[in-house]
Amino acid sequence: MTATVIDGKAFAAKVRAQVAEHVTKLKETHGITPGLAVVLVGEDPASQVYVRSKGKMTVEVGMNSYEHKLDADTSEADLLAVVDKLNNDPAVHGILVQLPLPKHLDSDLVINSIDPAKDVDGFHISNVGLLGTGQKSMVPCTPLGSLMMLRDHHGSLSGMDAVVLGRSNIVGKPMAQLLLNDSCTVTIAHSRTKNLADVVRRADIVVAAVGRPQMVPGDWIKPGATVIDVGINRIDAPEKGEGKTRLVGDVDYDPCSKVAGAITPVPGGVGPMTIACLLANTVTACCRANG
Ligand code: GUN
Repeated sequence: MTATVIDGKAFAAKVRAQVAEHVTKLKETHGITPGLAVVLVGEDPASQVYVRSKGKMTVEVGMNSYEHKLDADTSEADLLAVVDKLNNDPAVHGILVQLPLPKHLDSDLVINSIDPAKDVDGFHISNVGLLGTGQKSMVPCTPLGSLMMLRDHHGSLSGMDAVVLGRSNIVGKPMAQLLLNDSCTVTIAHSRTKNLADVVRRADIVVAAVGRPQMVPGDWIKPGATVIDVGINRIDAPEKGEGKTRLVGDVDYDPCSKVAGAITPVPGGVGPMTIACLLANTVTACCRANG
């Protein structure tokens, strides 16, 4: 069997087109332009790339983008003051503080200082609680994008066995919660899980979010299962020339795609959906703020 490739790039382009349409309507009917503020502390190169890409796509769908770049040694008080200003700025409907923050800053404190209604990452403790109790909330973008692809491929997920590899607050835990809310039987597996291969072999849906390159081999996948690969890992690629690198997921793609029923590639799978969902969350926040 060769798996159907779930094209996250094309799906994300469709989501962004819908967001752009919504933005146009908001401008025409209410005279409102949704605004997304992104706060970056320090010079982490990967974070700089993400933030640039978020800003570019925000503008492409017709929204306002506000970037706040702060020095790596910014104090917690100064960062909290920036967040407070954004919380009180009516032109800002969504706020994202790029993670990870430099070590001297308390991420939980900073995230929980964001107005939950503007928390387009869905990381604020009250959004986590709302999601956990099945109430209307801001939903973290990577799990939301993954869920959208799963629903698009399967229709209903009810009764399916889902295994989430990884228990991070950003992906693993909210992903498990979303799958549970869609009536899957959910297992969260992690570095201490016993008989990991057997656990994964039971799954109709595997979501890999551990940040370890190609750690899921083909013989862990149940024939016909759907594999969502959240990992984005850069590895050496000597076959491309000296010093060259390439991106791979947490799943060993070639062998897994021979067994799976459907699979997301890296790059071009979950990654583009994350930013598309961030834009969608910003429009949602704007609509909720304006009745
Ligand atoms: N760093 C890596 N992924 C994310 C994300 O989804 N949101 C934020 N704020 N930071 C991140």
